[in-house]
Amino acid sequence: MRSSFAITLSILGIFSQSIDAQVVGTASGFATGVTGGGSAAAATPTSLAQLKTWLTDSTARTIVIDRTWDFVGSEGTTTGTCCQTATTTCSGGTSAGQLTIADTCDSGTLVTCTYDTAGRTPIDVGSNKSIVGKGSAGVIAGKGLRVRGGNKNVIIQNIHITNINPRFVWGGDALTLDSTDMIWVDHCKFSLIGRQFIVSGWGQAGKVTISNNEFDGKTSYSSGCNGKHYWTLLLVGLADQYTFSGNWVHDVSGRAPHMGTTVTASTIFFHAVNNYFQNIGGHAFDIDKNTYVLMEGNYFDTVTTPMTSGSTTAGGAIYDVITVAEAAACTSYLGYICEWNKAYSSGTLYDIANVAVLSKASQYKSYLIGHTAVADVPANVKANAGIGKI
Ligand SMILES: *[C@@H]1O[C@H](CO)[C@@H](O)[C@H](O)[C@H]1NC(C)=O
Repeated sequence: MRSSFAITLSILGIFSQSIDAQVVGTASGFATGVTGGGSAAAATPTSLAQLKTWLTDSTARTIVIDRTWDFVGSEGTTTGTCCQTATTTCSGGTSAGQLTIADTCDSGTLVTCTYDTAGRTPIDVGSNKSIVGKGSAGVIAGKGLRVRGGNKNVIIQNIHITNINPRFVWGGDALTLDSTDMIWVDHCKFSLIGRQFIVSGWGQAGKVTISNNEFDGKTSYSSGCNGKHYWTLLLVGLADQYTFSGNWVHDVSGRAPHMGTTVTASTIFFHAVNNYFQNIGGHAFDIDKNTYVLMEGNYFDTVTTPMTSGSTTAGGAIYDVITVAEAAACTSYLGYICEWNKAYSSGTLYDIANVAVLSKASQYKSYLIGHTAVADVPANVKANAGIGKI
């Protein structure tokens, strides 16, 4: 009796997995080995409260997001003060700007402002979670996710995080990594966020793979006054290794990405491979100290500033493959020929080939993922990045 009951349960388990979304594929790059909720049966929350409980508790879970979970209004609104500057009013700009939630305002006017309360406090995700969208229906609006305080081993796949106080700087971040490890963010979309799409620090983000995501910066509230979101990826963790591959970063205007900090204890290794940077009315890479950045096979299309000039002198170690000789020089360190980066209808991608990056990368050989030809990147990435594609 008991064993046939167990068999029935396991058949039901398999059946429910085939109708509920499960993680598709496995992470490559630095988050190789991340298991998230592991074999926990996929389960679909039926209320905001249940979603919150499942995300935050210490049980291994596969949480299916099959609809829009909208936190806007769930904690009411806050009326406070905001700093209004020239980039808020955007006189002559093509969009409205952002107000900065603040108590003081040195270069502008302090004004009263009202913003959504929920957006300012992200959900603290527990260890061992897979958060998986179903089809193209998985949306979390009005509140971001944060993995911190030693929680780790989290997979976020096929989810769109959106509408977190987009009008307000400090209105909320979509994804925060702080004192964590083993994070895979795959086939997600980020849009309409007040502050960063992804932010790490000051604790370690650890081993992170950010793959096949769409970072969509189109906004009516742009601090660059150009309809493009400025705060894209700010990576300033203590000991971080990132694989950033197959992402479509478009219509943003800054920090796309920024990595590095003057905190001397920090070391960040960043492997950017086969990403498509498109319509960036500002800067893509902004690289500060204490970083090793290997860029290969990235395609910059209509990017005002593929890399800030400050990146060339800040002290970070950069190897961006531009020439045949630079591509070939990878071989003795990494065992393969690197792919070159291409800038089309874009500003200058500085040619920097610091072999300290290759030397560092050679310590991480098993985490370096392969590349496709840079010419194929725009079509491949647009077909594959974001939600509803797996
Ligand atoms: C996460 O999973 C690992 C491996 O099964 C386990 O050792 C750890 O205790 C889990 N963490 C929590 C918070 O349940």
